[in-house]
Amino acid sequence: MKKPADTSCRLHDPIQQRWSPRAFADRPVEESDLKSLFEAARWASSCFNEQPWQFIIAIKANPQEYERMLSCLVVGNQEWAKLAPVLILTVAKSTFDHHGKPNKHAWHDVGLAVGNLVIQATTLGLSLHQMAGILPDRIREVYEVPQGFDPVTALALGYVGDPSLLSEEMRQVELAKRARKPLAEFVFGGQWGKAASIVE
Ligand SMILES: Cc1cc2nc3c(=O)[nH]c(=O)nc-3n(C[C@H](O)[C@H](O)[C@H](O)COP(=O)(O)O)c2cc1C
Repeated sequence: MKKPADTSCRLHDPIQQRWSPRAFADRPVEESDLKSLFEAARWASSCFNEQPWQFIIAIKANPQEYERMLSCLVVGNQEWAKLAPVLILTVAKSTFDHHGKPNKHAWHDVGLAVGNLVIQATTLGLSLHQMAGILPDRIREVYEVPQGFDPVTALALGYVGDPSLLSEEMRQVELAKRARKPLAEFVFGGQWGKAASIVE
């Protein structure tokens, strides 16, 4: 299934094609493809080149590890994320290496790394669904995440599956039209709240 973005101009193909499915096919992801996703994440920019991102990965081929990671998601996400052949947790380092002060942009930079990862995944024909619905305390406990590191999101990764794999409620969401705010609502010119002329 495809759900391309309905855009006002043509975009780079993986941006146009990316969407967040809940139904994943029962098909494993090649290790070399997985490695390339983290290589893409590695080359994201970050504040002071701190690279505050950490990833923890579990694949279905290792059921014990997979179940352990699945148990770190809220139940509503477990319901569909259990279809994905790969689960990933993202973790941010909250202070700078060079002077130990708080890094206010750590989560921002984890997001940039995930942005790279998502685009690489889409280019390889893979799909990814990000989740804020995680259990940070459980992640901390299960993976012995040290102080100064914060769980940020989980990612479900794999090939798009048939929506019939989902519950009726989830299927409705899966098939729903994608929506976005118009550009004029968030691109301003000289005055706050007033659309820049390029997007009017
Ligand atoms: C940081 C972040 C957290 C999200 N958390 C959840 C989540 O916990 N559960 C869920 O089903 N979807 C979650 N999503 C997916 C969003 O709902 C989805 O990206 C949004 O509806 C736009 O849809 P699209 O990605 O298909 O364009 C999350 C997305 C992001 C970026």
